[in-house]
Amino acid sequence: MHPTTPAISFQNVSKTYRGGRVRALDGVSFDIQPGEFFGLLGPNGAGKTSLISILAGLARASGGAVKVLGHDVVDDYAAARKALGIVPQELVFDPFFSVRETLRIQSGYFGVQNNEAWIDELLENLGLADKAHANMRQLSGGMKRRVLVAQALVHRPPVIVLDEPTAGVDVELRQTLWQFIARLNREGHTVLLTTHYLEEAEALCQRIAMLKLGRIVALDSTSALLKGTASTMLRFKTDSALPISLLEQSRVTGRIVQIKAHDAAEVETILGTLRAAACPIEDLEIGRADLEDVFIEMMQREEEHQGAAA
Ligand SMILES: Nc1ncnc2c1ncn2[C@@H]1O[C@H](COP(=O)(O)OP(=O)(O)OP(=O)(O)O)[C@@H](O)[C@H]1O
Ligand SMILES: [Mg+2]
Repeated sequence: MHPTTPAISFQNVSKTYRGGRVRALDGVSFDIQPGEFFGLLGPNGAGKTSLISILAGLARASGGAVKVLGHDVVDDYAAARKALGIVPQELVFDPFFSVRETLRIQSGYFGVQNNEAWIDELLENLGLADKAHANMRQLSGGMKRRVLVAQALVHRPPVIVLDEPTAGVDVELRQTLWQFIARLNREGHTVLLTTHYLEEAEALCQRIAMLKLGRIVALDSTSALLKGTASTMLRFKTDSALPISLLEQSRVTGRIVQIKAHDAAEVETILGTLRAAACPIEDLEIGRADLEDVFIEMMQREEEHQGAAA
């Protein structure tokens, strides 16, 4: 069988800053296939934006190679860049142009002519139609982010890369944005997404890579990641302190407690322990672990790993 060219290929990518004192990426290798909706997750400082900057040609890798549809991002920069639509994490724009002018200029940059119909469609789908003539500096933060998304898509790139596109974006736009991106994905566009909203990643991504301290610590289909960890979670509210014996497996956020259980017997044991300690609980729910649970477990596992290695 003829193997297809990956949409994005990272081969042993490393990146150091400040003369080698900061190691942001440490031998990252994985491929994203054409048509995939792929999630790249990781805590602050994990190296997500560094990886995307190298992909976009905005930064140079210290080692390794990155290709977009077979085009090396250094040796074949123009072809690689043209295949990509990148929504950057940082808001950068020229304040003197209107929204429509910004999109026309970006079209010109990629040599796309007669693009008005597609620009109208982008404005419409991103809720910017009534802002087409507004100057960029007059827009709110969330609206500027919408323009960044439109700008990334203006040349209909086959590979779409979104670095936290929904940071600071309201609920309504988040939904319209995801509908639009999901449509483009159905039409064949490859999508690489980073986000701290794990429920978005769970809902949208077919495969997910988790990055920590510049290394891939998990990479699998979303469903396999969800199956691979303790599958049951108890969630409840309490105003009391938890029994010490439960602390290690619990996650407490304000009044909300989440406790991991491996099976039904363990659920009974946990509830028995709470009752014996006279710990009052409200709004008890027993459900499946979600991606956030998997993420936290992966990050902890990695820390134990590091601890053991040290
Ligand atoms: N220009 C730079 N100079 C020095 N260090 C940098 C630079 N850019 C990033 N770093 C460092 O590289 C590491 C990875 O940063 P990066 O921005 O890639 O993380 P991230 O996963 O995108 O985080 P976040 O979720 O906060 O966006 C961090 O330790 C960061 O401080
Ligand atoms: Mg980042």
